[in-house]
Amino acid sequence: TKIFVPCDTTALSMGADEVARLIEYHAGARGVDIELVRNGSRGLCWLEPLVEIGTATGRIGYGPIEPDDVQALVDAGLFDGKSDHPLFLGPVADMPYLKRQQRLTFSRIGITDPLSIDDYRAHGGFGGLGRAVAMTPQAIVDEVKTSGLRGRGGAAFPTGIKWQTVHDEPWQQQKYIVCNADEGDSGTFADRLVMECDPFMLIEGMTIAGLAVGATRGYIYLRSEYPVAHRMLDEAIRRAEAAGYLGEDVRGSGRTFHLEVRLAAGAYICGEETSLLESLEGKRGLVRAKPPLPAIKGLFGQPTVVNNVLSFAAVPFILDQGGQAYADYGMGKSRGTLPIQLAGNIRQGGLIELAFGVSLKQILEDFGGGTFTGRPMKAVQVGGPLMAYMPESQWDTPMDYEAFAKLGAGIGHGGVVVFDDTVDMGAQARFAMEFCTVESCGKCTPCRIGSVRGVEVIDRIRAGENREANLALLEDLCETMVDGSLCAMGGMTPFPVQSVMKHFPDDLTA
Ligand code: NAI
Ligand code: SF4
Repeated sequence: TKIFVPCDTTALSMGADEVARLIEYHAGARGVDIELVRNGSRGLCWLEPLVEIGTATGRIGYGPIEPDDVQALVDAGLFDGKSDHPLFLGPVADMPYLKRQQRLTFSRIGITDPLSIDDYRAHGGFGGLGRAVAMTPQAIVDEVKTSGLRGRGGAAFPTGIKWQTVHDEPWQQQKYIVCNADEGDSGTFADRLVMECDPFMLIEGMTIAGLAVGATRGYIYLRSEYPVAHRMLDEAIRRAEAAGYLGEDVRGSGRTFHLEVRLAAGAYICGEETSLLESLEGKRGLVRAKPPLPAIKGLFGQPTVVNNVLSFAAVPFILDQGGQAYADYGMGKSRGTLPIQLAGNIRQGGLIELAFGVSLKQILEDFGGGTFTGRPMKAVQVGGPLMAYMPESQWDTPMDYEAFAKLGAGIGHGGVVVFDDTVDMGAQARFAMEFCTVESCGKCTPCRIGSVRGVEVIDRIRAGENREANLALLEDLCETMVDGSLCAMGGMTPFPVQSVMKHFPDDLTA
């Protein structure tokens, strides 16, 4: 019998290793022959550790399993996939939370053993690279353009156009592929899941990028707080090299692509691409002025593709199934699927991959199942700490870059953080400014000094001092930061603040 116990950080933090150990112990004690597979997480976080039993009719799930549950589960027929236990969930693939998704990028995640190349290939892995080695670089770039893929790190810049810029730089130069894996937005964990649960997919996507633009070296700039992802990536890179998918002669193409992981510096601003490049070069993570774009002068002054984990992770599907197959999903100019991360005060938090166009309300209700506390929802922040708080009147908005932008909101990296009616939105506005004071790189004044003044002004407003004058001052300060900051850190910090002023004014002045 195959038994699956996930090995990602969420499951591990909930005791998955101990659960796996106990399952092996009880199987041994009863003489049951099991094969224990440490799979990735399905992304149903509230059910972790979600243990699965392979049966003739598919995989049967139980969860969330604590170490103390294992004995009773075994007694109730766990090894036969029996239903006689309150934690029995039935066939995992039929669970509505999974069944209602459109998993293109996350199709293998939770199903396979993350470090098994055979498993990866058996589930379509390296099919995209197989096609890419037989294509011209321009044809690869064109396929990505056809897909309509836009940067999933948050800025939504068309990936194909970014690759074209690097492709068009002279090929005699050293070019680089850099993966931004410094996932720092509140409520986001999709990058982590990719790296911990399907690392070969990221390796494949970056290698395809290397072939497309003529880069022979790649770096994954990995958030230092992700030790499990670090171990997984290092081992996956080693195995991919041994199997000829990385290194001197990628799949007999005569082309070279080397890949390494670099641990990040532990600062939010190092997720900003130019600051990331400084840090990767061994310097302090200060933002560089653009232009020149990293696509022209990036790492060590060379043409560089910088993309987020999710952007690279979407590429193997696009090359394998064709750009049009990806573009067939979505709405308007938002093509394909978005890995949404549902977090905060929510009953069923987790990873949900859906075609663009689904409404926020559907995500919150159909998947999230309401708040964890059972109280009414008050506000939702989509896209990280630099994005607007959205009141209930906006929850019908479809997930679409343009529809969100029209409201002064953003989708960012797809994190959705939920707050119930006990939240003090005035405190949240203050937090936005305070976050900026802590995380600012200090290079420009609107951000470095403006955010400190922002905290002070909000404190005065909340203390009832010259309220009208201070509200006008805060509005003015926000405009200055938006218009005058060098990067998104200072330039977007006002968005959550302004959304509180507009939609929750009573909280600010309470
Ligand atoms: P941006 O709009 O300046 O640039 C987007 C990307 O397109 C960059 O990589 C840029 O170099 C590239 N680009 C622009 N024009 C180009 C051209 N003609 N040719 C080739 N490449 C070109 O946005 P930025 O500052 O890179 O990112 C801001 C976004 O980051 C925000 O919208 C926010 O959502 C997101 N963000 C994400 C975080 C995360 O943890 N994932 C954290 C904080 C912010
Ligand atoms: Fe640095 Fe802030 Fe200016 Fe960005 S906006 S360059 S983080 S000081």
